[in-house]
Amino acid sequence: MLGIESSCDETGVGIVRGTELLAHVVASSVDEHVRFGGVVPEVASRAHLEAMVPALEQAYADSGVRIQDVDAVAVTCGPGLTGALLVGVAAAKALALAHDKPLYGLNHLAAHVAVDQLEHGRIEGRVAALLVSGGHSEILLVDDITCDITLLGQTIDDAAGEAFDKVARLLGLPYPGGPHIDRIAADGDPTAIAFPRALTAARDQARHRWDFSFSGLKSAVSRHVQREALAGRELPVADVAASFQDAVCDVLTRKAVEACLEHDVSTLVIGGGVAANSRLRHYAEQRAAEAGIEIRVPRMGLCTDNGAMVAALGAEVVRRGHRPSSLDLPADSGLPV
Ligand code: KG4
Ligand code: ZN
Repeated sequence: MLGIESSCDETGVGIVRGTELLAHVVASSVDEHVRFGGVVPEVASRAHLEAMVPALEQAYADSGVRIQDVDAVAVTCGPGLTGALLVGVAAAKALALAHDKPLYGLNHLAAHVAVDQLEHGRIEGRVAALLVSGGHSEILLVDDITCDITLLGQTIDDAAGEAFDKVARLLGLPYPGGPHIDRIAADGDPTAIAFPRALTAARDQARHRWDFSFSGLKSAVSRHVQREALAGRELPVADVAASFQDAVCDVLTRKAVEACLEHDVSTLVIGGGVAANSRLRHYAEQRAAEAGIEIRVPRMGLCTDNGAMVAALGAEVVRRGHRPSSLDLPADSGLPV
């Protein structure tokens, strides 16, 4: 199964055989977005156009698999940036049509969960998933990764990675800021500043039990930075980074583990770029162990956007006998799970 991913700023091509990874090529345009402090959709689309054919050729070379040999072509058709998605969808259609292969348009979020099969073997039975990246923050209940996923909760404003990136900017750190905050926070005190934990109060339980909100937290950090500057005090950057990071990771892991307990799930899959965060991993491991829940986190290169995750889901979709997509498959920026 050949998988193509282009929903944001990574052009990914992967080739798998069942749950075996044969090729995993990712070309990122992140460097081109640095000076804008975030992903610029038009820049991302153009970068996909340039990177797609070289990435495909690299994947064939790495695996020794020729396009003639693949059984099917899978592609992310949403959610994501429309222009970026269109490049991958057009490439996948061209390959499917030219080489007479079935085409499978797949959901990016489901692929983030399915990729763990390449690392830890088949996902059996019901699991929960916490997906946290620059573009998404969701808790999913997964009964079947190919066709039965329930969105339990999501961010109502900024994504978790986006919050890391915006706060990093406030602290004068480069984009993408998550890894920088993680590094600096290691020298700070996570209890130094009591930043807000949004949507965790009793009054939020009815409507936003499993949802997240990070924009108020970002504003709280901003106000704190301004207050310190006005008072003429030097900002304790490590303490701010550690306290902010703690607030994000505390809420993410608390809700994810509570969702597992509430829905009688004993396995939690974690994916997305923020899964690299050391505090998130610490809390996830600690809380999952206390609750008797197994956590599955694929290795970093598979957590962030890539084509292998699409191929992994594609292989599962074929295995379960689902029908292919038609060649007029649209890119759908708001595709639901
Ligand atoms: O999954 P990803 O590569 O791309 C998408 O956004 O889809 O995730 C990138 C996000 C960025 O916001 C980045 O700041 C964040 O993941 N990130 C981290 C860490 N490493 C990457 N956030 C917190 N701690 C990290 N160590
Ligand atoms: Zn993603």
